[in-house]
Amino acid sequence: MCGIFGYIGRSEATPILIDGLRRLEYRGYDSAGVATLANGVMELRKCAGQIASLTQMVQKDPPHGTSGIGHTRWATHGRVTDENAHPHLDQSGKLALIHNGVIENFQQLRDQLLSHGHTFRSETDTEVLAHLIGYIFDGMGGPRNKQNLLDAFRLALKQVIGTYGLALFHVDVPDVVLGARRGSPLILGVGKGQNFIVSDVSAIVAHTRDVVYLDDYDVVSIERNQFDIVSLAGADISFQVSKVDFTTEDVDKGAYPHYMLKEIFEQPNAMRDAMRGRLSTEECTAKLGGLNMSSRELRDVDRIVLTACGTALHAARLGECLIESLAQIPTEVEFASEFRYRNMPMNKDTLVFAISQSGETIDTLAALRESKRKGHRTLGICNSVGSTIPRESDGGVYMHAGPEIGVAATKSFTSQVVVLTLLALLLGRIRHLSSAQGIEAISALESLPDLARQVLDESARIEELAGKYTDAAGFLFFGRQYNYPIALEGALKLKEISYKFAEGHPSAELKHGVIALVGPDVPSIMIAPDDAVYEKNINTLEQIKARKGRVIAIATEGRKQIAGLADDIICIPKCPDFISPILAVIPLQLFAYHLAVKLGCDVDKPRNLAKSVTVE
Ligand code: AGP
Repeated sequence: MCGIFGYIGRSEATPILIDGLRRLEYRGYDSAGVATLANGVMELRKCAGQIASLTQMVQKDPPHGTSGIGHTRWATHGRVTDENAHPHLDQSGKLALIHNGVIENFQQLRDQLLSHGHTFRSETDTEVLAHLIGYIFDGMGGPRNKQNLLDAFRLALKQVIGTYGLALFHVDVPDVVLGARRGSPLILGVGKGQNFIVSDVSAIVAHTRDVVYLDDYDVVSIERNQFDIVSLAGADISFQVSKVDFTTEDVDKGAYPHYMLKEIFEQPNAMRDAMRGRLSTEECTAKLGGLNMSSRELRDVDRIVLTACGTALHAARLGECLIESLAQIPTEVEFASEFRYRNMPMNKDTLVFAISQSGETIDTLAALRESKRKGHRTLGICNSVGSTIPRESDGGVYMHAGPEIGVAATKSFTSQVVVLTLLALLLGRIRHLSSAQGIEAISALESLPDLARQVLDESARIEELAGKYTDAAGFLFFGRQYNYPIALEGALKLKEISYKFAEGHPSAELKHGVIALVGPDVPSIMIAPDDAVYEKNINTLEQIKARKGRVIAIATEGRKQIAGLADDIICIPKCPDFISPILAVIPLQLFAYHLAVKLGCDVDKPRNLAKSVTVE
């Protein structure tokens, strides 16, 4: 997956493109490039490496023009090289194209074009598409105008199997930039005397907050003072201009050295925003109007399937515990990438939730589509407003965590868990939970942001602690019940950004094999708050110590026994069992962050990763 930025207006395009690419860099940072158009001349600059390398290149030799396209790449087809960086040109060198997605039948299209004498400079599927569009346009013979370029674009896309978010321009049709999407996000930004095509609104909020979230098979053309959207078949389509509800401040790092740290510290506010207006002390329950389901329909639900990827899947695993214990509804979690190919037995009263921060993860989207195809009511729990999953689901809940730019998900995780807790409370209250239990849950939830703030106050101490463990060969994370998903999430955070080997396990699994890894070089992180399984966790800790393993414990403040056993301890405040995982994950995020910084890792742009995975 990659970031796309197309611009046409009255200002010099290059600074706008570079700033946009910086904001999209979380989507991929293997290579970057821009192409601009001025007085019938295309200027192209591209190179392997992060936007910083491209910036140096354009500073030395700035490309001019008031329209252009820019791209930041996460490599799929073809290695990370200058040649494979986008934009790619057609055979004539007059058409420049950028792409996010995968053209599955590119080999077949490439062979056809080779037989027509085309030569290719890169190994990418995108270059093949650029050639195909150019080939059709050149073969049309008619006037070199917007309509014919648009027709050539549509005809080429009809031959494509795969996914794409695209933007292009052609030297012979200078006053227009075209875009199209299928399976990869694309947004039209509507400005005054300028218009934009981007992969994510965060890249254009400095210029405009008026946007159109394009649908699959939409084809868009932007000019300085107008834009048009048609279907792939060429028909006019209806669309809505929406207002983005955040500003540039929300997508800037502010005083923080990294987005990840900023987002970790935003968690108390994000939790408040996830709960805002959704708790009713009068009815002792949560209200989630976006589910679009009556109490009666919700009462009929006899099974829930939660599907997601990565961190969102770990939130789903917590959701499973929460829904089963608060609402007693059988709940199952499935990797979205498995769900889409599985034939999971489900009945008419099974409710499916697709959970995704970005709302664009292709596996989660495909799971949602598969579930809907089979006639199941499918809801989304997403953060990105207007993204594809919320638009294609039958209803859902927005997390309202605000933009998350750091590649390692942090605040989106805790917001997902808060939303899932609200859902569990709502489902519990229309079944067996008493009003007193409802009120207890509400007051626990309401206390959460302040408790989270107390945990954040430990950041400096956690930083110091991380310094003691930089030499570790790897880490094992243990937790039980509500805190088993936290062991998984803690391990994921650590490996994503520090590249240290890390695994999460249910504590009691230690003795079934994992114990073979325990030793002085592989410390364990034991998540053992004061809950129903505290004593069991202590047993596991003793077993690790008996094998000379070092242990960092995440424990409830005031617990002397665990403090005496563990090598190091990070305390979280006393709280009900179901709240503890939301607090316990915060020190693990901070530990991963500080350890990675001490190891000199680029925490906001970890190697090989990208924020949202929009390719299979
Ligand atoms: C989290 O740190 C990861 N970067 C990744 O696992 C992520 O959670 C996953 O790709 C799902 O993304 P989504 O929530 O946007 O669907």
